[in-house]
Amino acid sequence: ERSFKYRILVSVLQLNLLYFLGAVASVFWVDSELGSDIYLDGIVSVVDAKHGLQHLTEEKPEGLVNEASRQVALADLIIINKTDLVSGEELNKVRTSVRSINGLVKILETQRSRVDLSNVLDLHAFDSLSGISLQKKIENMKTTHAHLDKGIMTVTFEVLGNIKEENLNLFIQNLLWEKNVKDKTGRTMDVIRLKGLVSIQGKSHQVIVQGVHELYDLEETAVAWKEDEKRTNRLVLIGRNLDKEIIKEVFIETVTEKHEIS
Ligand SMILES: *[C@@H]1O[C@H](CO)[C@@H](O)[C@H](O)[C@H]1NC(C)=O
Repeated sequence: ERSFKYRILVSVLQLNLLYFLGAVASVFWVDSELGSDIYLDGIVSVVDAKHGLQHLTEEKPEGLVNEASRQVALADLIIINKTDLVSGEELNKVRTSVRSINGLVKILETQRSRVDLSNVLDLHAFDSLSGISLQKKIENMKTTHAHLDKGIMTVTFEVLGNIKEENLNLFIQNLLWEKNVKDKTGRTMDVIRLKGLVSIQGKSHQVIVQGVHELYDLEETAVAWKEDEKRTNRLVLIGRNLDKEIIKEVFIETVTEKHEIS
């Protein structure tokens, strides 16, 4: 039992905090499994309505992503602040750009950072409780189009059937660790955030998949597969150089037939 909880609100103002953010998120996430009082509830990023678009579209030398986009990609919740300083049309552009990068993120709009804390705390973005809300979200989700040049985007796909846990691990490890999944032009697919609900052989409940950079985790949710329900695997990936068709193909190739345990 946790006697008290710290809520981690990561407010991203300094762009060079970026890698630190990824590292911090990973540490707290892992730590929670060790039964610590500190756990990762969710990642919150703030986008300035007035200057956000400029940061999101900032050109970087070849091969580098601008940090603002990476932060949006990592987040579970985006607070678009200073909405009073822009027109409806400008605000809409910011909103569309955020959505085009991260198709799963929850967006709050505020003036002078005034938010209802109940919307910011208890996100449960990393625990198995998020299974239910994730299911609703990813059922209605579509792959986004890279809206911004060389941008980060969200890709989602669904594959029917039961999969083996070790094959799923292999798929994720190829993607996140080995980085040997490439797009059509040979560029490595760079996954920043990974979420999914999958159907593992021999498990009666849906399993939630969570990934942040190179760290990932599988956890059984409280949602049981119904008798008459088609068992299915839905994954959402947020990152760069993502090609939905190729990822889906690699997934099918990795989780079926081949790689049987010998
Ligand atoms: C939100 O905007 C207000 C000005 O409207 C500013 O003072 C505040 O620092 C901003 N908050 C964040 C977290 O950027």
